[in-house]
Amino acid sequence: MRSYLFIGLLGLLGCHVNGYATGLERVYSLDRATQGISISANGRTFLSQRYSTTAAPQIVELLSDNTTKLYPNSAWNSYNSSDSTSNPRRTFVSVDGARIGPDGRYWVVDGGSSGLNGSTKLAGVNLTTNTVDKLYYLDEIKASDSGIDDVRFSASGKVAYLSDTAGALLVLNLKTGHGVRVLAGSESATAWYPMMYNGSLVPGYGAPGSTLAVGLDQIEVSPEGKYLYYQPCNGGLYRIETTYVDAALTNSTMAATLEDYAEPFALTPSTGGTTIDGDGNIYVSDTNLLAIWKVTPEGRATILVQDDALLWTDLMWVSSDKKLWLPASQMRPGGSGLMAEGPNYIFTYPIDAGPSPIDHA
Ligand SMILES: *[C@@H]1O[C@H](CO)[C@@H](O)[C@H](O)[C@H]1NC(C)=O
Ligand SMILES: *[C@@H]1O[C@H](CO)[C@@H](O)[C@H](O)[C@H]1NC(C)=O
Ligand SMILES: *[C@@H]1O[C@H](CO)[C@@H](O)[C@H](O)[C@H]1NC(C)=O
Ligand SMILES: *[C@@H]1O[C@H](CO)[C@@H](O)[C@H](O)[C@H]1NC(C)=O
Ligand SMILES: *[C@@H]1O[C@H](CO)[C@@H](O)[C@H](O)[C@H]1NC(C)=O
Ligand SMILES: *[C@@H]1O[C@H](CO)[C@@H](O)[C@H](O)[C@H]1NC(C)=O
Repeated sequence: MRSYLFIGLLGLLGCHVNGYATGLERVYSLDRATQGISISANGRTFLSQRYSTTAAPQIVELLSDNTTKLYPNSAWNSYNSSDSTSNPRRTFVSVDGARIGPDGRYWVVDGGSSGLNGSTKLAGVNLTTNTVDKLYYLDEIKASDSGIDDVRFSASGKVAYLSDTAGALLVLNLKTGHGVRVLAGSESATAWYPMMYNGSLVPGYGAPGSTLAVGLDQIEVSPEGKYLYYQPCNGGLYRIETTYVDAALTNSTMAATLEDYAEPFALTPSTGGTTIDGDGNIYVSDTNLLAIWKVTPEGRATILVQDDALLWTDLMWVSSDKKLWLPASQMRPGGSGLMAEGPNYIFTYPIDAGPSPIDHA
């Protein structure tokens, strides 16, 4: 009797007997810090994983026996800055965003290395042939201090949007490879506060006492393709109609004045990553409260689930069985960066919708 009451009470408090918040299910326990998960239409699973705070992440496929294999092959994951025969144009130098796009390709954003020509690129891997069959070098579009970070696609599939943590957005015509860098210097793209982690400011890479501030990082496109949402890492979500963003590719006046079309949308927290579902709800991982927020298409922002295990949840995924996939990377950037001691967990959480038709296949 007493134990029933006890469990009932825990239920009311939103706790679950397995120790995690109600609904939160631990699916994978991995050895390495896992920053991103993508699941293809036929169930193949790809991860971006780190080995240390300094070495670049690698891309792996998670096989059915739960072992991992470098993807698309070991050559693409073989970059070594001390080895002069390493080709930065044909290897991943510094992987960041990685996700399956609406065309079914697995797209990898390589932030590259500043000053290393050909290292900053967007690579599309064909999942049938398991080869990189699309490759866009971003040298001509980015700025010298750019940190190219993540990618999303327009409804037509003809335009890619890439975030630049220096505080800008790249708009890329996927047909021609031509692109523009917009919103540079806009308040909406600039970090207006350092990031928070578990109640404290995140230390910076500079002198002791410095803090980490990161500009435009998270981007999403609404399911019908009308809006591009974006924010700096410390939060403050804006949106712009994609018609204006796309026009910036051919209209230099528009490119220069794009911020005039930005509308504030929701006051979001310090963010590890975002994703969007088929109903247009945006999920935001809160690195400070170790929680996931839900921002509705009307702009209402509330906490969906909180759990201390949701440590720096990064690139999330929505699957067709209406689950939100949450890789708790345990990987905090910044000075004295924290590296997961492992194991690293990937959780799922039930939501009311499947993936957006234009977000991933
Ligand atoms: C792989 O992991 C999944 C998720 O935890 C589990 O359901 C499955 O049984 C595992 N497969 C093997 C072969 O261990
Ligand atoms: C990187 O290249 C250097 C120089 O060739 C070599 O000594 C080192 O072992 C390589 N590192 C790895 C991880 O292969
Ligand atoms: C850098 O790469 C671009 C193509 O991405 C090429 O057009 C340009 O010539 C290269 N510059 C140098 C200095 O190698
Ligand atoms: C991937 O390659 C296959 C075989 O060449 C081709 O049929 C398919 O159209 C390619 N996928 C995409 C998205 O282009
Ligand atoms: C978060 O901070 C609290 C208070 O300092 C500490 O007890 C807890 O271990 C921290 N959690 C993590 C995951 O670092
Ligand atoms: C270019 O954009 C500007 C600013 O929005 C707009 O006033 C102008 O009409 C556009 N030009 C064309 C040719 O569409």
